Amino acid sequence: MSEFELLCDYPLLAHNTFGFDVRAKHAIRLTEEAQIPALGHDTRIEGLSRLVLGGGSNVVLTKDFDGLALLVELRGRRVVGEDEDAVLVEAGAGENWHEFVAWTLSQGLPGLENLALIPGTVGAAPIQNIGAYGLEMGERFERLRAIELSTGETWEFDRDACAFGYRDSFFKREGRGRFVIVSVTFRLPKVWMPRADYADIARVLQTSGANDPQAIFDTVVAVRQAKLPDWRVLGNAGSFFKNPVVSATAFDALKAREPDVVSYKQPDGQFKLAAGWLIDRCGWKGRAIGAAAVHDRQALVLVNRGGASGAQILELAGAIKRDVHARFAVELEAEPVCL
Ligand code: EPU
Repeated sequence: MSEFELLCDYPLLAHNTFGFDVRAKHAIRLTEEAQIPALGHDTRIEGLSRLVLGGGSNVVLTKDFDGLALLVELRGRRVVGEDEDAVLVEAGAGENWHEFVAWTLSQGLPGLENLALIPGTVGAAPIQNIGAYGLEMGERFERLRAIELSTGETWEFDRDACAFGYRDSFFKREGRGRFVIVSVTFRLPKVWMPRADYADIARVLQTSGANDPQAIFDTVVAVRQAKLPDWRVLGNAGSFFKNPVVSATAFDALKAREPDVVSYKQPDGQFKLAAGWLIDRCGWKGRAIGAAAVHDRQALVLVNRGGASGAQILELAGAIKRDVHARFAVELEAEPVCL
């Protein structure tokens, strides 16, 4: 049986990108897979509720956690195979996502460059199917391994089993809280095709004349740095709301009243609305409730200006939701998991 150290009254300040000063009653740093099945045999932690934390970049911790925080620190990254079309690359769930993306490029394996600089870990990426600048992780996903907490059993999930959607997967719904993802394998196509449709990326590439994976990586990093706050400086969890999807009928009615609404037509005929635009239009950009504020360069990002609590962020989010609903009859849904 593998050993682990049980930490008590453990500070989670460094384990959530909002920078909330909350504590866990108990915590365990998971550095080896074999520690996970062993959890079930330890009477000291019997019956405690569990919270799996990677980089903490998609959670709102509203208060101290009266259970066991599992801090995923499983490392390792390697090429595990290839077929005619793609190279398969596996990484431990605790690897930093951005460093992993940079490493794949350094190995001459492009395909993830549009997802540069997204905070968090490799293991968290499939949970909300991270996406940015014209690419979703699900498109590069091959499989993952996860250990079920209640049984200690190891499961392999393919793309279908993960049921990826827009910022959504099995692990956010039916599978929520039941598994620790231990490693993820990506399928990186051998023939590289740039994803450069996103306007900001296209513009920079056009000006520079470059069109290679490193240029896209560098451009994505620059665009993100210009728009999105660095959580090390200003605590945040990226976009706080999903971009809502509405029916064509609802969209037509909205468009008639708000001709400049920013929208993206979906393959099924529905319309995705830019939540940042809706929030901005309600006058929320830069406004605050105490130290919980709406970022002044991207209204979709809520920030902790210093000393805010998760409850204050939720209060701010609630006020925004009410205003957006009152003005546009559109329901915003939070992207991070709120605990
Ligand atoms: N806009 C405003 N005011 C604002 C913000 C946005 O008017 O304050 C309008 C602008 O017209 C802008 C449009 O909304 O062109 C869309 O904004 P942006 O390009 O910044 O993208 P987004 O829809 O707000 C989404 C993702 C981001 C991702 C970017 C780029 C969601 C919830 N968010 O944001 O993902 O980086 O596209 O692909 O889908 C995240 O999920 O944490 C995240 C940062």
